[in-house]
This record gives sequence, structure tokens and C-alpha cells, in this order.
Amino acid sequence: MDIKITYLPGDGIGPEVGGVAIDALTKIAERFDHSLSVQTHDFGGASIDKHGVPLTDEALSSCDDTGAVLLGAIGGPKWANDAIRPEQGLLKLRRELGTFANLRPVKTHPLAAQHAPLKQDILDNVDIMVVRELTGGIYFGEKTRTSTTASDLCVYTREEIERIIRMAASMAQHRRKKLTSVDKANVLETSRLWRDVTTQIMRDEFPDIEVEHLYIDAAAMHLLSRPRDFDVIVTENMFGDILTDEASMLAGSLGLLPSASLSDDGPAIYEPIHGSAPDIAGQNKANPMGMCLSAAMLLRHSYGLVEEANYLEEKIYALLEDGIFTADLKGKATLGDVHQALMKML
Ligand code: NAD
Ligand code: IPM
Ligand code: MN
Repeated sequence: MDIKITYLPGDGIGPEVGGVAIDALTKIAERFDHSLSVQTHDFGGASIDKHGVPLTDEALSSCDDTGAVLLGAIGGPKWANDAIRPEQGLLKLRRELGTFANLRPVKTHPLAAQHAPLKQDILDNVDIMVVRELTGGIYFGEKTRTSTTASDLCVYTREEIERIIRMAASMAQHRRKKLTSVDKANVLETSRLWRDVTTQIMRDEFPDIEVEHLYIDAAAMHLLSRPRDFDVIVTENMFGDILTDEASMLAGSLGLLPSASLSDDGPAIYEPIHGSAPDIAGQNKANPMGMCLSAAMLLRHSYGLVEEANYLEEKIYALLEDGIFTADLKGKATLGDVHQALMKML
């Protein structure tokens, strides 16, 4: 098979963890007799520095052409206060490719969980799929700013809510048949529409799935006190962003969580959920596992290469079995050590 991807390394630790994932994909392609072609483009701050914009037309059309995008991370203090910021490129990319469904699996591996800051007995068998709406809500509404007042408008349409609920409910059907919808319906109009639409769709189209509605504040607490009770969690853009960084503590580290952002008609973006980590960038310290697990999701979702994806995931987890832990998991391994060990295993 011809595996074609657009690779956007980005900023900070993005290119560091991305390099490991690209090398892992190269090894997988060799082993399973596929061809791999990688088109690399500047993205985020690196693109602002070279081209004046965080996402060039060339990079965007490459993403559109290949349909599968592997993305490191963007952003950093260098650009944080400018009018043109790296994050705008990421939002534009998601919006232009129509990747409305951001799947963020949170699975606790027993060896990583030993180093999680939470108590062991809470973490056994945690297996959650967070489905985050990614192209609507407060991220994309009209923004205003004067020297004294600022506003960000949060908008959701019925159609946007319906498609993400259907996607999440379909996933629940192949898992443990439970859906938790998270909103703030006690305060926000968008959340009241969200809850009404969810109730209707679940009643009419997915009567066999157990549905739970939680407010975001309580959900943030329940996620840490009874994480095993959750199967699929579906929520809007900003709540999903915050809940998944919190959920990474169930896995052990932010550096472990991958994601896949899917559209209706093809294009998909694969990226770890963490950012560019300016505090450790350039120090050979970052954990590349979330990035490599994202590459496995790419093989599975964009190319249907299930055996290859499973093989890659297995080898990534085998690193933990060999005691190779980076600093975020209280270990001594550098990113270079993980890179080398993974290459050897693959
Ligand atoms: P961050 O996710 O970059 O870092 C948060 C903390 O987690 C830091 O202490 C960092 O060192 C640690 N961390 C993150 N990934 C790690 C890894 N792979 N291995 C070990 N430790 C890791 O969040 P932040 O510091 O709030 O944001 C930094 C920049 O990243 C900002 O510009 C932000 O906008 C951007 N960001 C980008 C993305 C993305 O590209 N998708 C995601 C989140 C944040
Ligand atoms: C993420 C990030 C982004 C988001 C930022 C960088 C725009 O935090 O991918 O989780 O909020 O979606
Ligand atoms: Mn985030």
C-alpha cells in the first residue's frame, strides 16, 4: 500500500517527538512492505518565522491532498503576544479540513499508572474514549476586543451537535454501550441545546445505549474519583480540551495521550494532545509516546492497517515493560533513549 502523509513538525518539542514517529512509520513500512511518502511543511511559529503565516496555502493543500496529517505541536512564548499566532494555524487547519471529531483515548497502562500521581486502585482498567467537538463553539465564534472590553461568542448549531453525538454514540456501540455527555446546561444556552439534541438523538437512534448527562464542573471531579465508570465521553470544544489534559493524569502523563481528528469525508489529523512544551524543548527530555501512538492511529484510521497499528502500539508499550521511562514518568530515559530502543524493537 502507498502510505502518503503530510508531516507538520511545528514548534518546541513537536519536531523532537515527530522525528521518532516518522522513523517508526518508516520501520513499519519496511517491515510490512508498504511504501511511505512524507511531505513535510513548516507549521505554527516556524512557519510564521519563515513565511509570515502559521499555515501556508502549500501546507494546507498538501494536507488536503494526502488526507492524513501527522502533526507535532505548535506555539511558544516567542509568538504568544503577537497578532499572528501559531495557534491560529492549528484552528484554521482543523476548520479547513472539517475535522470536527477529535478522538482522545485515555487508557491506563499498569506500568505507566505506577507513576501516575493518583492512587493505583482508582486507575485499574481505566479505558475512556473522549470525543471532543473540534470545529465549533467558543473557539470559532466572533471575537471582539477594545482596551476595556473583550468577548468570545460561543455558537453551536443543531447539525454540529447531531453529528458529534452520532459519532460518539456509534463508538459507544462498539465499546461498553455507555455515553456520558458533558455540558453546562445549568448556565449556557449552547449547552441547553446540546442536552436537548443529545437526549433526542439517543432516544430515537441509540435506545440501547445508557446515557448520562453531567455538568462540566462535576465531570471534572467524577473523572478523577470514578474514572472506571466512563466509557465514551462526548463534549464541546473547550470542555473537551480541558477535560483531556486532566484525564492524562489517569494515564500517567500528558506525554502519553494521542489523538485523531476525523472529518466526514476523509481528511484526518493525528497529533498528541500535548503542546510544544517550551519548558523542556531542546533538552532531549520529551516523551514521544503520545506522538507515536498518534502515528498508530493514523495507520488504523486513515489506511485501515490494523495489524501494523497494533504492532506499533505493542512495541511502544513494550518500552515500558523494559523500564524505559522518560522524566514525565519519573524515569531517567531521554527522548533519544526511547527513540533508539523503539527502533531496535521495530
Ligand atoms: P504543554 O502541553 O506544551 O505543556 C504542559 C506541561 O506538560 C509542561 O510542563 C510540559 O513540559 C509537559 N509536557 C507536555 N508534553 C510533554 C511530553 N511529550 N513529554 C514530557 N512532558 C510533556 O502546554 P503549555 O505549556 O500550556 O503550552 C505550550 C504551548 O503549546 C502554547 O503555545 C500552547 O498554545 C501550545 N499548545 C499546542 C498544542 C498543539 O499543538 N496541539 C496543544 C496544547 C498546547
Ligand atoms: C489542543 C490545544 C489547542 C486547543 C490549542 C493550541 C489551540 O490545546 O490541541 O488541545 O485548544 O485545541
Ligand atoms: Mn489542549
